[in-house]
Formats: sequence, structure tokens, C-alpha cells
Amino acid sequence: MLCWIVCYLIWLISALDGSCSELPPVDNSVFVGNETDEQILGIYLCIKGYHLVGKQSLVFDRSKEWNASLPECHLGHCPDPVLEHGKISSSGPVNASDKITFECNDSYVLKGSNWSQCLEDHTWAPPFPICRSRDCEPPGALVHGYFEGETFTSGSVVTYYCEDGYDLVGTQMLQCIDGEWNSSYPTCESIQETPKPAEQSALEKAILAFQESNDLCSATENFVRRLKEGGLTMEEVKFSLEIKKTKLKTDILLKYHS
Ligand SMILES: *[C@@H]1O[C@H](CO)[C@@H](O)[C@H](O)[C@H]1NC(C)=O
Ligand SMILES: *[C@@H]1O[C@H](CO)[C@@H](O)[C@H](O)[C@H]1NC(C)=O
Ligand SMILES: *[C@@H]1O[C@H](CO)[C@@H](O)[C@H](O)[C@H]1NC(C)=O
Ligand SMILES: *[C@@H]1O[C@H](CO)[C@@H](O)[C@H](O)[C@H]1NC(C)=O
Ligand SMILES: *[C@@H]1O[C@H](CO)[C@@H](O)[C@H](O)[C@H]1NC(C)=O
Ligand SMILES: *[C@@H]1O[C@H](CO)[C@@H](O)[C@H](O)[C@H]1NC(C)=O
Repeated sequence: MLCWIVCYLIWLISALDGSCSELPPVDNSVFVGNETDEQILGIYLCIKGYHLVGKQSLVFDRSKEWNASLPECHLGHCPDPVLEHGKISSSGPVNASDKITFECNDSYVLKGSNWSQCLEDHTWAPPFPICRSRDCEPPGALVHGYFEGETFTSGSVVTYYCEDGYDLVGTQMLQCIDGEWNSSYPTCESIQETPKPAEQSALEKAILAFQESNDLCSATENFVRRLKEGGLTMEEVKFSLEIKKTKLKTDILLKYHS
């Protein structure tokens, strides 16, 4: 591998014909160049025990300048681990295959893996976790509603209410658990005027009476009498019939499509 790189470099330097004679050196790294028609792509690879800080690849084009400042190779085979609001088991430079563990401060909860390992390719796996606050975001405001509750720390409960004329759909009480509300926010829906079951059955009876009659005249008479017995107003009947009509239409459509 190393031989290949060196051979390639020698070829590259001679191919450059002196026009880019000083390939910028970076301590503790090997340089790999790749020439295309227009430009040369240069990549710095840190040697074992060192990791790269800065841009890994640079481009040398006709302007005869590298397109970025040089990277550096710092001690430690992988980048220094970081964990905001928490502790890491090791400090100082790490070697390949070293394992580290993570722990969060009080009032923070760890999200992700609580360990990671430095791999041969200078990367960490699994990726670092984060320490997330156990406090929740203030819960969402409701259209046509509001909530009660002033603290949003872990364990706190907020309760939702809707304005008059609106029904709460969803969970009324939400609890903050380790930075997350335990269910999604409810909504306030306009109350639907649906006929009461008693009205419904009175109407069914009236319709039945209408269907059983021999002629249209007595059928209508029976229908109206039944409605009066059921205590229904014409407005209520109209409304119920509209609902029936819509439902019938939907049923027909569904049948048609299936
Ligand atoms: C050089 O670049 C070409 C085209 O981008 C690519 O096909 C080739 O694999 C590269 N060679 C090396 C050694 O990276
Ligand atoms: C330099 O060019 C390379 C290859 O196009 C690119 O990956 C890199 O981000 C460039 N650096 C800067 C600082 O523009
Ligand atoms: C919390 O973690 C940070 C590291 O991000 C550390 O500096 C700080 O001292 C810790 N605080 C407590 C109370 O442990
Ligand atoms: C890395 O390895 C070297 C020798 O192989 C050893 O001296 C050093 O203590 C190791 N570093 C860590 C952080 O384990
Ligand atoms: C990491 O998490 C596992 C469970 O996922 C647990 O058994 C283990 O004790 C934890 N290790 C540390 C150092 O917190
Ligand atoms: C969330 O917490 C509240 C209050 O403890 C509880 O009433 C509700 O049932 C919980 N919801 C879910 C989805 O667990």
C-alpha cells in the first residue's frame, strides 16, 4: 500500500514537470494525488495514531494554487470525542480500537449509544450520542382551546381545554417524560349536530310507515303522524334525511369503485 502511494507520488511529481514542485507537506501524513485532465486532486491521510483536522482533499487547478488551507494531523487515532452536558470515560489521545463510554449530567437524558469505538479508518462508531434536557418544550397552543400548567420539567402535567362549542379530540392530559410529551397534542373540533338515537328511531319508524302504505296520500299522512308521535320537528327530519342521503350516495360510490 505504502509502496503504491510512494510510486504514485514519484510519478505525479514528475508528471507535474516542476510546475507544482512543492507539494505542501503535512506532518504525520501521507499524500495521495490523482491527476485528471484539468486538475490534480490531493488527499492527505494521517498515519496510525493521528487524526486529520481540516479539509482532507485539496484541488490544484490551472491557477496553480491549492483551493484550501492545509489540514493537520493531530495526536490520537480518532478525533477527540465530545459530549455536551455529559462525561466521557477517557481523556487524552486514543488508539485504534479503543472504546469509550458516555454518561450525561443530571437533568439530561442520553439519546443514542452509550459507547463508541475508534476504528482503523479514524472514525468513531456507533456515532456519538447527545445529552438532551429532561425539560420539555412548551406544549403547542390550540386553535379554539388553551392549556393549564406552568412548569414543563420532567414529570409535569398540562391539561387542555376547548372553548364552548368545541370538543376536545385526543388526550386531555399530557405529561413531560425525559424531554418529551407522552402523547401528541389534542385538537378542538367544532361540535357536530348529530340526531339523538331516540329521534333516529322515530324517523326510521316514520319511513317504514311511509313504505308500507298503499297509496301516496295515506303514506304521507302516516309519515307525518309518525313524526308527530316521535316529537320530531320538520327541521330535524330534514337534517336527518340529508345525512341519510349523503350516506346512501357514499355507499353507492364505494360499491361502484370496489
Ligand atoms: C483518480 O480519479 C479517477 C477519476 O475521478 C478515478 O476513476 C480513479 O479511481 C482515481 N484514482 C485514484 C488512485 O484515486
Ligand atoms: C477543494 O476542492 C475539493 C474537490 O473539489 C473539495 O472537496 C473541497 O471541498 C474544496 N475545498 C474548498 C475549501 O473549497
Ligand atoms: C455537565 O457537563 C459539562 C460538559 O458538557 C461539564 O462541563 C459540567 O461540569 C457538567 N455539570 C455538572 C453539574 O455535572
Ligand atoms: C496508545 O498506544 C500506545 C502504545 O501502543 C500507548 O503507549 C498509549 O498509552 C496508548 N494510549 C491510550 C490512550 O491508550
Ligand atoms: C450502556 O447501556 C446499557 C444498556 O443499553 C447498559 O446495560 C450499560 O450498563 C450502559 N453502560 C454504561 C457505561 O452506562
Ligand atoms: C400521558 O400522561 C397523562 C398524565 O399522566 C395520562 O393521563 C395519559 O394517559 C398519558 N398518555 C399516554 C398516551 O400515555
